[in-house]
Amino acid sequence: MMNILLLGSGGRESALSWKMSQSPLCQKLFIAPGNAGTAAYGTNIALGINDFEAIKAFCIENQIDTLFPGSEDPLVNGIYDFFKSDDELKHITVVGPSKLGAALEGSKDFAKAFMQRHNIPTAAYATFDAGNFDEGLAYLEQHSTPIVLKADGLAAGKGVVITEDKEEAKKVFTAMIKEAQFGDAGSKVVIEQFLTGVELSVFAFTDGKHYVLLPEAKDYKRIGEGDKGLNTGGMGAISPVPFAQGEFMQKVVDQVVEPTIKGLAAEGIPYYGFVFFGLINVNGDPFVIEYNCRMGDPETEVVMPRLENDLLELIGQMKAGTLDKAVVKHKTEAACTVMLVAGGYPEAYEKGDAISGLDQVKSSIVFHAGTTTKDGAVVSNGGRVLAVTSYGNDIQDALRTSYENIASISFRNMNFRKDIGYEFK
Ligand code: AMP
Ligand code: GLY
Repeated sequence: MMNILLLGSGGRESALSWKMSQSPLCQKLFIAPGNAGTAAYGTNIALGINDFEAIKAFCIENQIDTLFPGSEDPLVNGIYDFFKSDDELKHITVVGPSKLGAALEGSKDFAKAFMQRHNIPTAAYATFDAGNFDEGLAYLEQHSTPIVLKADGLAAGKGVVITEDKEEAKKVFTAMIKEAQFGDAGSKVVIEQFLTGVELSVFAFTDGKHYVLLPEAKDYKRIGEGDKGLNTGGMGAISPVPFAQGEFMQKVVDQVVEPTIKGLAAEGIPYYGFVFFGLINVNGDPFVIEYNCRMGDPETEVVMPRLENDLLELIGQMKAGTLDKAVVKHKTEAACTVMLVAGGYPEAYEKGDAISGLDQVKSSIVFHAGTTTKDGAVVSNGGRVLAVTSYGNDIQDALRTSYENIASISFRNMNFRKDIGYEFK
């Protein structure tokens, strides 16, 4: 039996708590801070996800044996190391990597250098900081367009700029390094080659030596239909991804997943939990666009529904180092999720709007993302408000169900993309 503390409050944490609460191994499930939806699967606790001392006190008081950081922040800030170096906490299983391992997400420069060391396919790049700023400007001058600039550190999904215009690239580069546009995150900048292809997300779950692959997914990052407009946290997702099979997936395993897991082990980097490979399919060859050290959001809202295994059993195998014995089973049905977002998102938007019609939803699972409870009613509390997930015989069938059920949900200025999965019609 497990007593779990899950850190986070988004759609991802709703889907994770939904999944874990179904396990016969789930004794107690706490979500910090959670949202109006997670309260149906466990107990919400008002704790900050980066308040390690408060998390420690809670874990001791409630006999937590499994800490599951849903998002990257606490991992990049070293929550694994904090637990493992504390006599009162070190027995607790942490479903996530050490600070060094989390640098695969926390530092683009570290990730690129790691991929180079292990011969993992990724876009060509160079890294600059205040020390070689002028060289960076000269590098931009001779670079082909489009140019991809990435702030080295965590920048809440906003640290990547892609531009056709060299003068704009120089401005962005200057703003990041000289004007601290992204604070410390932008004190180093990775400039890389632009790759063209279809993106997908692949997930490994690892005990540091062995791994299993979870169902793959594709997310839709742009706010506008036809993949236009500003980047968001993700407006929807589908699983499976039709081209993620056969020779292409074999290349993903041989050229990306295996060398990553082996590379981490060879470098002595403690790594448990999820490796999220953000990949792009360039004419049949996979390239790594980014690593994340946790599950994706909204990908989790389709991956967990398609995963037949007991997630807590997999966590037990992770802890025991026996994931080589685990066999992952996927549901044959497809799944999709469509995000309902607040009008204005990803720019300024309002919170606190009453949500109606949730009780009318018949054949979809509604995962709460940005919601809270106010005077007994569910109200919006973030840009991404709800993720409406459905199963189907194929992707389009699943999408039809989500769109039908969305028709009964409403809140002021609700917005969503009507073309999720459009390439796979
Ligand atoms: P990241 O935060 O690294 O995932 O980048 C955000 C988005 O920018 C990715 O999902 C891609 O759509 C795009 N992107 C990042 N790097 C590249 C690249 N080298 N070539 C083309 N698109 C990219
Ligand atoms: N959906 C992309 C992410 O979770 O980073």
